[in-house]
Order: sequence, then C-alpha cells, then structure tokens
Amino acid sequence: MSERLQPTTAELYARHIIPTYARFPLALVRGAGVRVWDEEGRAYLDFTSGIAVNTLGHSHPALQKALARQAATLVHISNLFLHRPQAELAARIGAMVGTPGKIFFCNSGAEANEGLYKLARKHGSARGRHEIITLDGSFHGRTLGGIAATGQLKVKLGFGPPLDGFLSVPARLECLAHAVGARTAAIMVEPIQGEGGVRPLSAGFLRALRALCDEHRVLLFYDEVQCGFGRTGYWCGWEATGAPDAVPDAVSWAKGIAGGFPLGAFWVREPFADLLGPGTHGTTYGGSPLACAASQAVIETIEKESLLANARERGAQLVAAAEQMPHVREVRGAGLLLGLEVEDLPPLAGEEGTVALRLTKRLIKAGLLVVPAGEQTIRLLPPLNVTAAECDEAALILHNVLAESSPQPEASRSSSS
Ligand SMILES: Cc1ncc(COP(=O)(O)O)c(C=O)c1O
Repeated sequence: MSERLQPTTAELYARHIIPTYARFPLALVRGAGVRVWDEEGRAYLDFTSGIAVNTLGHSHPALQKALARQAATLVHISNLFLHRPQAELAARIGAMVGTPGKIFFCNSGAEANEGLYKLARKHGSARGRHEIITLDGSFHGRTLGGIAATGQLKVKLGFGPPLDGFLSVPARLECLAHAVGARTAAIMVEPIQGEGGVRPLSAGFLRALRALCDEHRVLLFYDEVQCGFGRTGYWCGWEATGAPDAVPDAVSWAKGIAGGFPLGAFWVREPFADLLGPGTHGTTYGGSPLACAASQAVIETIEKESLLANARERGAQLVAAAEQMPHVREVRGAGLLLGLEVEDLPPLAGEEGTVALRLTKRLIKAGLLVVPAGEQTIRLLPPLNVTAAECDEAALILHNVLAESSPQPEASRSSSS
C-alpha cells in the first residue's frame, strides 16, 4: 500500500491557518476568464469573481501585461515620493466621478472606510460632532471601526466594548431624520447593500438623504467597496440606482478597483478634499506603482471592451432567466451585482446551515461558484466581461439545481417511504 507523504491543502489549512472562515473545501489552482480549476482538474464557472474583485475575470492579458511591465520598472516607493501611475489614476478616477475632489489610496475596503470615519471626525470636530450613522444590514469591514459601523450584530459579538460614535438605524428616511442630532458628523450608506443580501436603495431615498445631510450640514458617504467601479454597469453605484445627481461628499472603493490586485481608495469632494492635511493620515503600501498600474489597466479595458454596457446587458439576461426559475422569490441588484432570494428549501440528508449556504454548496457540486449573502440570498458576481453563452451556462446549472431542490409531491413521497 502506497503511503501519502504530502499533507493535502485542506490539512495544511487546518493545521496552520487561523480558522476565521468556514471555507468551502475546494483548492483552486488556476483560472482563465470566468473559469477556475481545482487540484483535481475539475473546472468551475466562477460567478464569485473573488467576491466582486476580479473585474476582468482570471488571467486577463491586459492585467498580466500591466503588472509584468510595472513589476519590471518600479513596484513600491512608499508615499514619501511622487509617482506617475498614482497621479494619473487619481485624475482618471476623479473624471469618473465627474465632480471636483481628491483621492487617497490605501489597500482594502475596511481601510478606505477608516479614512472616511476620520474625515467625518475631522470635519465635525470644530462643532463637537463625531457620530456616524449607518443602516441596519450594512457591511463596512472587519476592523474595530468597520464592525462598529456595520449594522449587523453577528460581526460585533465578542469584540466589545464597541467603538464610540456609531449608530445604525433601519433604512427608512423617518428613522434617519429622527437619528440625526447635534452629535452627527456623517451618514454612510451602501447605495446597494452587498453582504446584507443585495438590497438597493431607491433613487428617491438617496436624493432625500442628500437633502437631509445638506439641511443638517452632515457629510454624506457612500461605501462603494462592493457596488462601485463598474460592477453595476455604471462607474458609480449610485448612478445605477437612478440618482446620478445624488453625489455624496465622499466615496470608498476597493474590491474591483484593480481587478484582483489589493488596492483601496477614498474620494473626497471639494471643499472637504484638503481636510486631511499633512500628518493626519497615511499608509505605507497604499497606491503603489504596481497597484495603480493594475487599476489603470482595469479602467482602460473596461472602456476599450465596453464592459459597462456588457455588465448591464448580461445583468438583464441573468435577471430575466432567474425570474423564471423555481423557488426564486425575488431577484435584486443592478448589472452584475445580483441577489437571488430563494424560498426556504428543506435540507437534503446531511446538509446544515442557512438556505443560502446549502444552495451554494449544491451549486458548487454542480460546477457553479456563487456567494451566499444573508440567510436566503445567493449572489451572482461574474466578471464584467462574462459572455452571453457563459450566462446561459450558469443559468442552466442554477435552474437544474433549483428544480432538483423541489420538495417531492405528497404522493411520491409517501410511496417511496
Ligand atoms: C460594502 C463593503 N464595505 C467594506 C468591505 C470591506 O472590504 P475589505 O474586505 O476589502 O476590507 C466590504 C467587503 O465585503 C464591503 O462589501
């Protein structure tokens, strides 16, 4: 009998990786476009994009080339010096937003949001205002500030005492109007909540929020870490809700901004753009030449390959298909940030967890990777360059898995027992 000398990848994880994630037992080795392959050589359709990160799919030649070229030139210099890739990227993103403002580059979504919390406090400090209001069900990251801002109890448990100055309220205007007070410095919302189950705010809501913030001289922040940077078929997630005029005072991004290379950023509108002056904020890695070159390649490719239009069209295709599927209660979202809320399907033998988790596991077995969001919703987040044929392929897998999830009719159930 031959003895296995090497531990499996799962065994190495169990031994050496802190178990903060209940990972799916799937070790991936390679990706191309919307497909990935596991260690056994099995292919999957990747509709996770690394949780809304791989904007151009896997191994896109433009991203490969930009990274290779920049890696051979200048990888990192810190923020003590200037470099062209950061300057040009900031100008490009500024043009994308279309309102005068400035940008700070960092490394992740939680870090970008931390910058916004500091901006709120700096702006409010002269008037004794430091409180930030967010929405129930929101998700803003895993730092202490992030979990304080997040409107979900589960991320806070065991990490008390909570950071002072954060308050979450139901996503209703009267609740926000009631919560704004003498200590409020900012209101922060995701125009489309991602982790909370893909829940878009309406155009009317965002406009009313803008008016409320103006009335009370409170800053309005959009956390576009998940819904920004083209994911919805628009550069800015708030445009996808139908309110391009509801421009916030600051926006945070990360995830898709550099197509898989770690980069975060926040943009601040004039006249607030210089509030965080020299010595008030910083980060060693943020906006390195390598990260900025990757982001520029992502923006150029989105423009060259008309991927915003593709995201809108493929999104509409997936919505139309999903609305016909069995057990789908509601389809929400915009572009390629889509959530399918399903009925409470009964567990199959040996299955545990929420409906969203159980369905995700069944889909993985069938060759389609998706992301659960909340208890009853699965997220479809393919890359922005996914094709119509790939969407058809994914829709067929989804349809079949959902059809197989049907509870057996009474007669056949009793006859087989
Ligand atoms: C809306 C939103 N904000 C912030 C974050 C945190 O981003 P990161 O994981 O890069 O820190 C996430 C991550 O899922 C997110 O969806």
